[in-house]
This record gives sequence, C-alpha cells and structure tokens, in this order.
Amino acid sequence: MSALILDGRKINEQILAELKPRIDSLTRNRRAPGLAVVLVGDNPASEIYVRSKVKACQDLGIRGFQQTPPASITTAELLELIESLNRNEDVDGILVQMPLPKQVDAPRILLAVDPAKDADGFHPLNVGNLVTNRPAPRPCTPAGIMQMLKRYGIRVEGKRAVVVGRSDIVGKPMALLLLHENATVTICHSKTPDLASECRRADILIAAIGRPALLTRDFIHPGAVVVDVGMNRITDETEANRIFAHDEKRLAAFAKNGRVLVGDVDPRAMAEISSAYTPVPGGVGPLTIAMLMSNTVSLAEQHLA
Ligand code: GUN
Repeated sequence: MSALILDGRKINEQILAELKPRIDSLTRNRRAPGLAVVLVGDNPASEIYVRSKVKACQDLGIRGFQQTPPASITTAELLELIESLNRNEDVDGILVQMPLPKQVDAPRILLAVDPAKDADGFHPLNVGNLVTNRPAPRPCTPAGIMQMLKRYGIRVEGKRAVVVGRSDIVGKPMALLLLHENATVTICHSKTPDLASECRRADILIAAIGRPALLTRDFIHPGAVVVDVGMNRITDETEANRIFAHDEKRLAAFAKNGRVLVGDVDPRAMAEISSAYTPVPGGVGPLTIAMLMSNTVSLAEQHLA
C-alpha cells in the first residue's frame, strides 16, 4: 500500500480560509490585525522564511511591519526596537526571526517581547503556559503539526511518539503538545545512543534535528506516521545523487540549480515504509506560516475585544 502524503499546502489553505472572515470582521469593526516581523542581518534562509511570512500577511489583509536592522546591531539597540513595537498600538504580534547574530543576547530579546504580543510563543512566560497547558500562543511549527495530524484524522492518544531534536523552537514544544494529547513521548537528540532503535519504536516519528536524510530505512517502523521538519539545502553532488537516486525530477532540479532541499528523513524510505508522511518541501513549512497567521489573529482579537 502506498503511503498517504500529508499535504501541508492544503492544510495551510484550509486554515487561512478559516482566518479570513475573522480578519475581515476585525478590519471592518476596528482595524486590521498587525504583525511586526524583525529580520536582523542577511541570513539567506531567514530571508526566505520572512518573505513568505510577509507575503502571507499581505494576501490575508494582515498589516505587516517589517523591520530589517543590520547584522551589526547591538543588544541594546534591538531591545529599543522591540520596546517601540511593544508600545505601537497597531501591532498585535511581534516575531523576531531566529537565529540572531552572535553578539546579540537572544534570550534577553525574547524576554523583552510583550508576552501579549508574542506571535511565536517564545517568551518564557508563554513557554510556561505551554508546559502547564494554559491558553497562550504556541510555537508555530509544532502547533501546525498538531493541526495537520488532527485534520488528517491521525489520533495521538495512546500512541508512542518519538521526537528527534530538542530545540526550543520545535523539539521541546512538539514533545509537550503531543504529551498534552496523551501520547507517550520520547525526546531524542544528537547524543542519544542507538537512535535507530529508539525511532523504530515510534507510531508517530517527528524528525527535527537539522541533518540531511539522517533517518534512513532502519529508523522507521513499518506503518509509522513520519513528520519531517528538516529543511536542509544540499549542494554536494554525490550526496544529492545518493539521496535522490530514485527521483529523476529532483536530480534534474539539482543539475539545473546546483542545490536541492532535503528533510531529515531519507525521502525514499519515508515514502516506502511509512503509512503517512510529510514531504519536503510542501509538508511542514506551510503549516508554520498558517499558525503564525492564526496566532496573530487570536492576539488581535484579544487586544480589540
Ligand atoms: N527560525 C526558524 N524557525 C523559526 C520560527 O518559527 N520563528 C522564528 N522567529 N524564527 C525561526
């Protein structure tokens, strides 16, 4: 039986369509929701993410406030910018794109964002709200994955879930959201011995470790649901040929562009062994954007209530 492809673009469209009337109603009765996106420096991956976030705002009728301070900004200067966004009454949500340059004290910046404007759910107060399962903005990528599972009717309760990766942005909040839905959750990371056998125990396997195609055939229990959060850009021809040996289209794309995107899971193994999986691209990426828009609309509704 061939695996079900979990289509992030389709779920993204569903979620945005549900948000549209809420945005229109706010705009008609009060004002448009506003999202400030802070992109420091010129990290190419961050630039791509931010461009799609700002475009999603435009398409939906959310007012986008893009701020692009230089990579040389100091912590004090960035704190000042955050404070001005906290005070701006047209701004409902603030997002500081990660990673920040080395000289910037990132934890201090995240702490400075008004928790009531925390579109990413990264403020320690909202991290606490997540741990204790109280209503608050949730980190967008894990929240999007939960929406995807729910909308495809994939039950979480009683399942064994394995999360590979322990970042504050994906791994940790993902594990907590699955736990709150009554999964039995294991968190693995780069120091986990025998990662393959841990992963093979998973009914639901979430790969968020940022290593191209690290999870191969022997990491996947036949019939498992596999969610691949990885977004790794490959420029090495030998590696591309190995990973996409089965996929002429992707090899042709590599030949043309000199790069190709691959997740944390071997794409052929995932398609052949899982019962359902998220492709890269077109799986998890669009969900992150949908949930950012959703968090922003919810914050605006709270501010304008
Ligand atoms: N960097 C990678 N993913 C994200 C995200 O979801 N939000 C922010 N702010 N930065 C990121």
